Amino acid sequence: MKHYLEHVEAALKSYLPDKNCREKKLLDAMEYSLEAGGKRVRPLLVLEFCKLCGGKVEKAMPFACAVEMIHTYSLIHDDLPCMDNDDLRRGKPSNHKAFGEDTALLAGDALQTLAFDILTRDETAELVGDAASRKAALTLARYAGCSGMVGGQMIDLQSENTVVSIDTVKDLVTKKTACLIQAACELGCIAAGADEGKLRAASVYGKSIGLAFQIQDDILDCTSTDEELGKPVGSDAENQKNTFVSLLGLDACRKLVEEYTAQAVAALRAFNGNTTPLSIFAMNLAKRKN
Ligand code: IPE
Ligand code: IPE
Ligand code: MG
Ligand code: MG
Ligand code: MG
Repeated sequence: MKHYLEHVEAALKSYLPDKNCREKKLLDAMEYSLEAGGKRVRPLLVLEFCKLCGGKVEKAMPFACAVEMIHTYSLIHDDLPCMDNDDLRRGKPSNHKAFGEDTALLAGDALQTLAFDILTRDETAELVGDAASRKAALTLARYAGCSGMVGGQMIDLQSENTVVSIDTVKDLVTKKTACLIQAACELGCIAAGADEGKLRAASVYGKSIGLAFQIQDDILDCTSTDEELGKPVGSDAENQKNTFVSLLGLDACRKLVEEYTAQAVAALRAFNGNTTPLSIFAMNLAKRKN
């Protein structure tokens, strides 16, 4: 799936508005975080699910970029002093360190609205069809909003400085992280015009790798270094977060990552095409070091 990366980078760049305007600082801040070199996990999932469902990969590119913009906005806001208060992101000073809190807040806002602009603009509707454009916007809105990612971030904040149940942690991780990854998988299927059965299987894969992904993120927060991770380690302990690691310990978490990864791989049986890239992708995410 690596060969998608250069196309994703070019497409993301192409969607950023022209900077020749009074609010150039806002656009600089958006570009700064968007082009800071994330792993692009979510766009790669959008594109590969589209391919798996028999769609043309180019059709899914607007959806891939929209999901990455929502993800980037979530990271900018997540790092703010009023949230996790982290000064390093993707190996560079966090957005608010580079541009100030006020601009960072606005850059996040603007990336979020740009995502829905991209999903619903005429050229996207012409590429994928009106119904797919609308369905993608609704799907992303639901997974990113108050019953998805933003809701999960709320539970994450409410659970600081106290100890909550493992069910609460599973709920917060499902919402804050797995939901957007599920959205990515489903959007790929929507771009290809796949049926509901495939959409459901993609959703199960996304939720399972999403849970594994956040548990691995929590493991790395305790075991990695700032240099390797590109963000500050020890942030969860410092903020007294509830994570799978804080409740269950590292060994149990390593097993859980394997279990959720196996569940994801099993969900791929619903597809007739070549699922090997997505199996390998899930297994590589489980072993990731950053
Ligand atoms: C970080 O996501 C936030 C989590 C959901 C754990 P990524 O690990 O995908 O971050 P980038 O995009 O590669 O920087
Ligand atoms: C954040 O989880 C998930 C988001 C919705 C941004 P974390 O707070 O653990 O993510 P990192 O470790 O800062 O990337
Ligand atoms: Mg956080
Ligand atoms: Mg954080
Ligand atoms: Mg983390």
